[in-house]
Amino acid sequence: MAAMLGCGKNWVVMCLCLFLLLVPLACGGRATISTETASNSGTGSGTSSQRLDVQKHLKNLNRPPLKSIKSPDGDIIDCVHVSQQPAFDHPDLKNHKIQMRPNFHPEGHPFGESKISSNSKPLTQLWHKNGRCPEGTIPIRRTKKDDILRASSIQQFGKKKQRSFPQPKPLPDLISQSGHQHAIVYVEGDKYYGAKATINVWDPKIQQPNEFSLSQMWLLGGTFGQDLNSIEAGWQVSPDLYGDNNTRLFTYWTSDAYQATGCYNLLCSGFIQINSEIALGASIYPLSKYSSSQYDISILVWKDPKEGNWWMQFGNDHVLGYWPAPLFSYLTDSASMIEWGGEVVNSESDGQHTSTQMGSGHFAEEGFGKSSYFKNIQIVDGDNKLRAPKDLGTYTEQDSCYNVKTGSAGDWGNYFYYGGPGRNPNCP
Ligand SMILES: *[C@@H]1O[C@H](CO)[C@@H](O)[C@H](O)[C@H]1NC(C)=O
Repeated sequence: MAAMLGCGKNWVVMCLCLFLLLVPLACGGRATISTETASNSGTGSGTSSQRLDVQKHLKNLNRPPLKSIKSPDGDIIDCVHVSQQPAFDHPDLKNHKIQMRPNFHPEGHPFGESKISSNSKPLTQLWHKNGRCPEGTIPIRRTKKDDILRASSIQQFGKKKQRSFPQPKPLPDLISQSGHQHAIVYVEGDKYYGAKATINVWDPKIQQPNEFSLSQMWLLGGTFGQDLNSIEAGWQVSPDLYGDNNTRLFTYWTSDAYQATGCYNLLCSGFIQINSEIALGASIYPLSKYSSSQYDISILVWKDPKEGNWWMQFGNDHVLGYWPAPLFSYLTDSASMIEWGGEVVNSESDGQHTSTQMGSGHFAEEGFGKSSYFKNIQIVDGDNKLRAPKDLGTYTEQDSCYNVKTGSAGDWGNYFYYGGPGRNPNCP
């Protein structure tokens, strides 16, 4: 890591102080061997070399901002020059020429896009209440020391803990190893060049801080083995990752089945952001309420057929950025499977099923205003057109804990309701 070598003008004093403060400590004892294990979860203790590693990692993640905005939820959003973002540290992106706009955009069925329907409100983020980032910069949610200390290790920070893709046809030896539960809809058996959905946004309750609840789409390439490629985007509640129960926008990617590569948001080098308005990992506002107003976000991910980059758009006009083609192996061609739906971690900490909610916390049968939904789910086909997916499959591990029901109608196109409360008399 070149982090400490990069001490620029503004950082010299700080780096020097850090150096003077930490080196004697780090050199004073023999406890400096175990840097790989970092701190024991969240206590803030640990050896001095661990503390130095945390500082290094923070400095690498938090680039010098041109402006900072304090969000009402406590986040600090740093406006960082687009060329200073973490992506360009990636070894395969050293000479990458940034694309400031996609040179291709898939056309298709204008379901729900021509008019804003009364039950679909535009995406906003909470930090917008206190300011915006200037053009030429991108908003990055500042990582705090405590964010890293909550992770099991520095290396693990920003990554999914385990393999956690829903596996509709599980290999026998992998079944429910991970304790993750899903309620999803999927297509496979073709080549897919993108996917789209409008996702209803809620604030599910999380029982344990090490659990999460999310609603997202997955674009998968390769097989469910060691080298699975995945691009993911949606909303999540994850106390471990963010330190609170807020509902946040997120992305994820991996090119080796969640092992060494990839991360959430901009927490490692990879995704290149070009948009100055939307911050990955920032809170979404407002949220849907039971039997009351419903809010949703639209996400489109598609492949630029010329450059091979995978682009992402939020709503109708926020092109957020792209995953450069060199990050992937299988996905350099196309995705072989698309999945949409919810996922929670069931840690069974008290010996029973978790009461962590998925979606609204209500089952699919309850329908609009009560159950959570995905609507206008579409794929990008071989002609680079947005189309309704054919032959949707559904998958849940335990229907009595979280379930899913598909349908198709009018300007909702292909849709499904999904979710549930987790623990209940039928899901003990
Ligand atoms: C998150 O919610 C749970 C209950 O749902 C609560 O016990 C916990 O304190 C909350 N965590 C934070 C950081 O607010």
